Amino acid sequence: MKHILLAIALITTVSGAHAQGAAPVPAAALKAGEQVYKETCATCHATGLLKAPKLGDKKDWGSLIKEPQATLTADGWVGVRDMPAKGGKPDLALEEFARAVAFMARAAGANWKDPDAAMMKQIQAEEKKALDKKAKDAKAKK
Ligand code: HEC
Repeated sequence: MKHILLAIALITTVSGAHAQGAAPVPAAALKAGEQVYKETCATCHATGLLKAPKLGDKKDWGSLIKEPQATLTADGWVGVRDMPAKGGKPDLALEEFARAVAFMARAAGANWKDPDAAMMKQIQAEEKKALDKKAKDAKAKK
């Protein structure tokens, strides 16, 4: 009788553990701006390759950080001249890109924060405008 009870107890714990294992896995945490910068942006932005504004260079960033955070982030995200869209990394999340921009802006003395939900909304609205403008410019060139 003791054995049967033990067996039942075991089965219940094992199935309980199984149910826990089936619980949804939390979405992978987004990377911090500095990490994104190091992995993706530093190639150009550390040295000024292709005339990219250099990290921490107040002259390079001076006029850029006068722009609204959402505008500059969206313009970089869709790409501008030799700045590749998404920093050249197609699987980068917009929010991760935005954090990297905020990180670089802070390095140049701006007090930009990592975007919250409200800022992400603004960036998405600006992204739409920037894409529309790009499409128009491309048409005008033809
Ligand atoms: C292949 C090189 C390259 C990589 C990689 C790159 N950039 Fe750039 N970036 C540039 C260049 C060049 C410019 C200057 C574009 C211009 O104004 O002509 C620039 C400009 C920018 C600007 C200013 C945009 C504007 O409106 O003037 C932002 C913001 C920016 N980059 C963010 C990033 C972030 C964030 C990453 C990484 C996720 C990144 N860049 C990766 C080359 C690069």
